[in-house]
Amino acid sequence: MLKEGETGVKDGPGGPALLEESKSAGVPLEGGRSDGEPAPGAGGLPSEVPSRPGGGWLRRLLGRVWSSPPGSPSPDTPAPEPGSPLPVVEFRHVSKVFGEGTRQESVALRDINFCIQDVPGRGEFICIIGPSGCGKSTLLNLIAGFSTHLPPTTGEMYVYGQPITGPGRDRGMIFQKYSSYPHRTVLRNVTFGLEMHRRELGLSRREMDDWAREWIHRVHLDGNERKYPHELSGGMQQRVAIARTLALKPRIILMDEPFSALDEPTRYDMQDLIVELWQEQQATVFMVTHSIAEACYLGDRVWIFSPAPGTIAKEIRDLPLPTEPALVQQSRPEFEEVVREVTREFQRIVTEKLLEQKRAQ
Ligand SMILES: Nc1ncnc2c1ncn2[C@@H]1O[C@H](COP(=O)(O)OP(=O)(O)OP(=O)(O)O)[C@@H](O)[C@H]1O
Ligand SMILES: [Mg+2]
Repeated sequence: MLKEGETGVKDGPGGPALLEESKSAGVPLEGGRSDGEPAPGAGGLPSEVPSRPGGGWLRRLLGRVWSSPPGSPSPDTPAPEPGSPLPVVEFRHVSKVFGEGTRQESVALRDINFCIQDVPGRGEFICIIGPSGCGKSTLLNLIAGFSTHLPPTTGEMYVYGQPITGPGRDRGMIFQKYSSYPHRTVLRNVTFGLEMHRRELGLSRREMDDWAREWIHRVHLDGNERKYPHELSGGMQQRVAIARTLALKPRIILMDEPFSALDEPTRYDMQDLIVELWQEQQATVFMVTHSIAEACYLGDRVWIFSPAPGTIAKEIRDLPLPTEPALVQQSRPEFEEVVREVTREFQRIVTEKLLEQKRAQ
């Protein structure tokens, strides 16, 4: 029933400082950062921009934020031509060793190869699962271009054909920890990234506020604009982080266990929200999760990482599309069967790798 994907991944082995990057970021914080960039050379507004009061001028504003005016492309990643055949993200033989040559040496990733093409008008949703410490966050941090992780120990990494040499506004990160500025209101948290890029986006304060309010509306936080993060629930705080990151319309969204701190019902709500927003954004998403059900629900593909040193041990495709609300669909027997199958595969990979490591000792 589950098939392996054809692109780039083989079955089997082989297969922060707070503001450091905030200039390129919608975000923050204790170890958290995020970047985002205007839409890929779109020039003009997506048709799904909601028509709300003031829509005329809002559309003009969005035209600026989401189009590709002079100066808007990320400094390190030029916006690709529409319909560009360049892969969104490509890794060739990437390995990452921390503390190389020291007693603390740790091989986080080994020989990672993949090539994610743009899926026009849609993007692709890649979910990454694997045991703790197998390099999932390391992979996201490398794509994000965080200085704590660059350069990789071996291999090459590209975003839209450009080597990854640092963060860029084309990539937005959402972390597990609620990464909001505690001294800023919800509105000011969401305008943060826009403020960082205000000049190049050519936005007035009023335009930024309106755009941020639009995003606050999209993440269903209307009426909370003046509140501070400590006045919000965990789910609401994570919505703020999502709004702040997506307000910059990143072409690549990186999410590292974004919902793992949330209770189960809130988690389903957030999955529904992500499905809704992703369909609008048409971005490529890499999401790390420890929930196999979440991965099967959200992912077009699921990558199962082997225990450390991390490799993409298996890619699973042909997963159910999220056509119903998360709670409804994930309660269906046929969905539960898919989750069981992926879980069995996960366990097989972990067990085999551990046995292999034991034999090698
Ligand atoms: N900045 C760093 N310096 C040194 N070692 C690191 C650093 N970041 C990660 N590592 C090491 O790399 C390995 C992989 O870590 P990583 O955080 O990527 O794992 P993970 O799969 O995300 O785990 P988890 O599921 O627990 O979040 C671990 O052994 C970790 O200790
Ligand atoms: Mg991690």
